[in-house]
Amino acid sequence: MFKTKEIAVDCQKDIHSKILKNKDYIDKNEEKRVKFAVVKTYGCQQNASDGEKLSGILENMGYSIIENEEKADIILINTCAVRQHAENRIFGNIGALKSLKKRNPNMIIAVCGCMTEQKEEIEKIKKSYPFVDLIFGTHSLNRFPELILNVLENKKRVFIDNDQDEKIYEGIPVKRKGNVKAFVPIMYGCDNYCSYCIVPYVRGRERSRKPEDIVSETQKLLSAGYKEIMLLGQNVNSYGKNLDEDINFAELLRRIDSFPGEYRIRFMSSHPKDATHEMIDVIAESKHICRNIHLPFQCGSNRVLKEMNRRYTKEKYLDIVKYAKKKIKDLSLSSDVIVGFPGETYEEFKETLSFIEQVKFTSLFTFIYSPRKGTRAFSLPDPISKNEKTMWLNELLRAQEKISFKIYENMLRKNFRVLVESRGENGNTLLARTDSNLTMEIEGGDELIGQFKNVEVIYASGRTLKGKIV
Ligand code: SAM
Ligand code: SF4
Ligand code: F3S
Repeated sequence: MFKTKEIAVDCQKDIHSKILKNKDYIDKNEEKRVKFAVVKTYGCQQNASDGEKLSGILENMGYSIIENEEKADIILINTCAVRQHAENRIFGNIGALKSLKKRNPNMIIAVCGCMTEQKEEIEKIKKSYPFVDLIFGTHSLNRFPELILNVLENKKRVFIDNDQDEKIYEGIPVKRKGNVKAFVPIMYGCDNYCSYCIVPYVRGRERSRKPEDIVSETQKLLSAGYKEIMLLGQNVNSYGKNLDEDINFAELLRRIDSFPGEYRIRFMSSHPKDATHEMIDVIAESKHICRNIHLPFQCGSNRVLKEMNRRYTKEKYLDIVKYAKKKIKDLSLSSDVIVGFPGETYEEFKETLSFIEQVKFTSLFTFIYSPRKGTRAFSLPDPISKNEKTMWLNELLRAQEKISFKIYENMLRKNFRVLVESRGENGNTLLARTDSNLTMEIEGGDELIGQFKNVEVIYASGRTLKGKIV
């Protein structure tokens, strides 16, 4: 097991000197005008958080971060490998950049993230997408400044395909999306090796950040006016295992909850096998932690859970839920479900249906099983057709819709505390979020953004909630 001293590295000076070197090079050798960069991120919040670091590095190099690819000097595609569908979409989007590069040969196109931790995908991009200048994976994020400089100076393609660096680099600049909610990674990687999942192979071994680094980042964010802190990790409940200090996730939550002022804490994801009574007690007693837990159960059949290597049974999951519902008033739960794991029968799938009826999740993220090369489940016989699995998925969605709609309807005429997050896409209403992580439309001016308000739900239908400030 790693020890803190080996895994935590304060790279502030190092990375800043590399960034300045790039800035210098660009100032001396490139056209004198504002430079633009686009960072396009796919996948989960961990990847979104990495995308914010990559944007921070680019901004410190002098690039202005924009959305419009047509105007970009650098386009960085930060990829996800969790399902084949995600990879196909990304390949499609990389392919679409060919014409842009033709029009602007000086544009740098870089591909990074989880997909480019896989040798086969790197080879595919190298061969089939010759206009891609730079490829690097999740393990090389801190090397991004020197890799870009390499491409600029040598005008050659750069590929990193064997970086095993699993140190934690503190002090990388971050350009956050918005100024109300902020991601704070508390750990990286995953050691769980669920048999269907590619994440441990592309993100490396589980390693926790030191509590003082997490606490100090949170303090700075709160002082800067952020109102919601989202703690990130693939399995936050196992936080602290590799650290010198004897600390677990419950204790970290206590420390993050201890600051004055009005703010919210969320975390994602919890693994049921490590969800403890202590963690639930801390949530129940806390001032700032949302009464909402995302606790992926994946499947309602014990046989399939065993095949998935999830290391809990549905009974153990239901026990945690029972304890949490008893302890935490107004608790809401959300979850992830995989439909059609190799060998799953319709009878076993029906156990998933009865499971969601028992727990009554506020929302579900549902996925059809996607075979991932290199994982244990990849070689398992998988006799059920995609069509059949799609029918199961639709059945699950219909069942969940009924549950969610009922939860929404029950909210009508009741009061909730919401955080106003942004103006909605229609421009007319504001978007606010309940403690239970549901979005609600409310009327009001932009000055409300970033404020907590009490609202009464005046409309609840389907997936739409509308509220009025009280
Ligand atoms: N670490 C989190 C956990 O265990 O709860 C989940 C992280 S994973 C990025 C998000 C979700 O993707 C998983 O909970 C699972 O439902 C889904 N997933 C992962 N691998 C998958 C696969 N091969 N096919 C379909 N869904 C998958
Ligand atoms: Fe994947 Fe399992 Fe790790 Fe989650 S806990 S990232 S599903 S291996
Ligand atoms: Fe996340 Fe996708 Fe990587 S879900 S960890 S970005 S494989």
